[in-house]
Amino acid sequence: MASENGWQEVAKVDDLPPGQMMYVEVGEDPVVLINLNGEFFALSDICTHQDASLSDGEIIGDELECPLHGGAFEIRTGQPASFPVVVPVETYAVRVVGETVEAAKRG
Ligand code: FES
Repeated sequence: MASENGWQEVAKVDDLPPGQMMYVEVGEDPVVLINLNGEFFALSDICTHQDASLSDGEIIGDELECPLHGGAFEIRTGQPASFPVVVPVETYAVRVVGETVEAAKRG
């Protein structure tokens, strides 16, 4: 996919209504893209506890619950929200350009 300064198209806005998430890739990285009340966030798709895919989990309020042991992350920050998760997940920058959602690695 085309990229400009690391920004890469990952979805169309219409693909992802509020309250939904989808698996995408940013470069080679597995990422979960989340629409939280109309605002888009992107986190690493791999749980920091063990090897689970967070896009198979569940959005509960403003947290993303892992499907494997019920640990959770704050969607806005990637910080741990409940045990057994203690290590944050990497977050990605997200922007909306017209009808397109773009993401980029931070830093
Ligand atoms: Fe995610 Fe254990 S693998 S909470």
